[in-house]
Amino acid sequence: MTRKEIEQRVDALMEQMTLEEKIGQINQASPATVCTLPGVEADIDSWVTEMMEGKISEQKFQERLAMCEENLRLDELEAGEIGCFVNLYDDAKLAQVIAASKKSRLQIPLLVGVDVIRGYRTIFPTPLAMAAAWDPKLHRKLVKTAKKEAIVSGVNWVLGPMLDVARDGRWGRIVESPGEDPYLASVIAKEMVEEYHADNGDGPMICTAKHFAAYGAASGGQDYNTVSISMQQLYETYLPPFRAAVDAGVDCVMSAFHDLNGIPCVCDKELLTDLLRDEMGFQGFVVSDAEAVKQCVSHGISGDEAEAAKMSLLAGNDVDMTSYDYRNYLKKLVEDGQLEEEVIHTAARRVLEKKLEYGLFDKEYVYDPEKIRKIVLSEEHRAIAREVARQTIVLLKNEDVLPVREKKRILVIGELADDKEALTGPWAFTGDSGKTVTIVEGLQKNAPEGTEISYVKGFGVHDSREGFAEALEKAENADFIVAVAGETAFMSGEAASRADLHLSGAQEEFLLKLAGIDVPKAVLLVNGRPLAIGCLKENVGIGAILETWHLGTESGNAVADVLFGAYNPSAKLTVTFANEAGQEPMYYNHPNTGKPGGSFRFTSKYQDVPIEPLYPFGYGLSYTTFQYSELEVLTPEIRLDSELNCRVKVKNTGDCFGEEIVQLYIHDKVAGCVRPVKELKRFMKIALQPGEQKECEFSLSAAELGYYDRSCNYVVEPGTFDLYIGPDSREGLHMEFELK
Ligand code: BGC
Repeated sequence: MTRKEIEQRVDALMEQMTLEEKIGQINQASPATVCTLPGVEADIDSWVTEMMEGKISEQKFQERLAMCEENLRLDELEAGEIGCFVNLYDDAKLAQVIAASKKSRLQIPLLVGVDVIRGYRTIFPTPLAMAAAWDPKLHRKLVKTAKKEAIVSGVNWVLGPMLDVARDGRWGRIVESPGEDPYLASVIAKEMVEEYHADNGDGPMICTAKHFAAYGAASGGQDYNTVSISMQQLYETYLPPFRAAVDAGVDCVMSAFHDLNGIPCVCDKELLTDLLRDEMGFQGFVVSDAEAVKQCVSHGISGDEAEAAKMSLLAGNDVDMTSYDYRNYLKKLVEDGQLEEEVIHTAARRVLEKKLEYGLFDKEYVYDPEKIRKIVLSEEHRAIAREVARQTIVLLKNEDVLPVREKKRILVIGELADDKEALTGPWAFTGDSGKTVTIVEGLQKNAPEGTEISYVKGFGVHDSREGFAEALEKAENADFIVAVAGETAFMSGEAASRADLHLSGAQEEFLLKLAGIDVPKAVLLVNGRPLAIGCLKENVGIGAILETWHLGTESGNAVADVLFGAYNPSAKLTVTFANEAGQEPMYYNHPNTGKPGGSFRFTSKYQDVPIEPLYPFGYGLSYTTFQYSELEVLTPEIRLDSELNCRVKVKNTGDCFGEEIVQLYIHDKVAGCVRPVKELKRFMKIALQPGEQKECEFSLSAAELGYYDRSCNYVVEPGTFDLYIGPDSREGLHMEFELK
């Protein structure tokens, strides 16, 4: 349908709609939970808290949930009071709500929004892990698989990708983010939005760039906390992935929970209208984060929920996610003469336009449980998830210990190795953790012939030392030890900030005891954030560390592929690992200081931790080695309107096939504003046979060498630049070039 046709159909619809029906379009509802026992309140939030604090087991939580019933709001749907839905993960129930909305007077189809963050039923690695693959093709594979499973299940709107640049390991939602670098995040944003829009058999799908804006800069890494940053930082660090998404035509943007420099994002007109629409050119609709409209009252920016609704809508927040403030107050505000009806029309039109653009009026959803069963979690999808997952595992340390070959008795230790839910990880509500392959299962299934895998729990993420003795005794008799430590699914993600980045409970204590046993061993980390694991890195008794994140459905198989050498690790960190939480936010592309950290006392550093991070951005080892040589700038003269072309040679100097992520950084030596010490500008993943050498050529336009000044004007200045190409943000070859 052409733009004009869409507009005409929206006009025709709007003419028939009552004010209530228009408000319905911008009301996003979720099922209401009611407890079946008389007099008992369904307080799921408190129950989740109790479970996260370990006060009740997951089983107890599930038992309580079983006492609850979901009210699907079918009456409200039939009355045309709900235009968008959220947070319903059951296919049969989704079919019910979709059918109810089709019974409404004008039969306007429902937007069914779901947090498809890491796949739908087949769960892929966390976004932070996905970013570590530095491979846009893998994001496309994830999106394609997720889209297929979600569409067949009735979902037509994805509440992702999450594009918050995150630089503070304390922030739980760092796990959902692409990491600390705006360029890498922008590349990922573009690929994901384009793939959601691609019509490759399953149809295009509505997607959402979230959370606008600078949610990752939450003060102190504490979730939902205030964000106080300069406009220049907003433009330079936090906006680029959103710009990339908008340029790729993203349909929806989710406004964030927090206040940005004093105004909650949901009611910030300068942010949602002046910047997002007028300056960045966004043309879709804006949805609030969950209940963020009514949170304007707790922020103390609105006197009551009616005012919150008015302020948010006027600011440009089109859809109210689950506050019900638009539904409850907008009509009255119009009747009282406090709000122009036209503002509601504008927002409702934006939603209707998307419904038409994506053909929701014309292609009716047909619920087919048999078809769903065939598509979701299919062997094909699981194979893709495995292939992707193994490419996200980062080898942090390897003293000739990995891959594991010719070991007869391998002992796996640690509760996380056998915990399906932890391995599935956070933000996987649509998944089925029961289908996840654990590390124990994966190693058992994939071990070479003659290798025996045994398991002992030994230690867990909470404090108990009960299993230590048994595990240590068994460890003495093993040929190889795989110890799995880290975080449960609930220790990162939303509302899961941590002030301490060490391994929780008695994990460190156990691992240090284990280190004293003279048997080769690898520690596998299962976690959502950079952890302060200096004691493992430094300990000679621990020969290898693998960062295996939360890998999702195919966890155990992907780990086995790397551990036994079927896949040679290639992933590299997209967040800096600080030595201690006190250094956070710690990130590679920080501005130059006047006194860069060094051995002299009066330089910028902490007294009690090393200046260098534990592991820098871009870091990751391989089972082979790579040598960089002959860095060259090919362009004879680089002018403001031309390109920088450069080249480096990379050789596989080890004895096995491997892939390397070649990274290009620049540094503007003298500029009108203080510039970062390094900025990632390009990267490339290459594959090399042993002894093979490749020339890697990069080009970037001079326009990409600029920056935002203090008035947020983008400037490109002539001068001298450092150019680095290497394996991570710390190492690499260096030369200078002039921009004339
Ligand atoms: C999160 C969003 C999510 C929404 C709906 C909120 O708590 O911040 O990212 O899309 O819930 O589940």
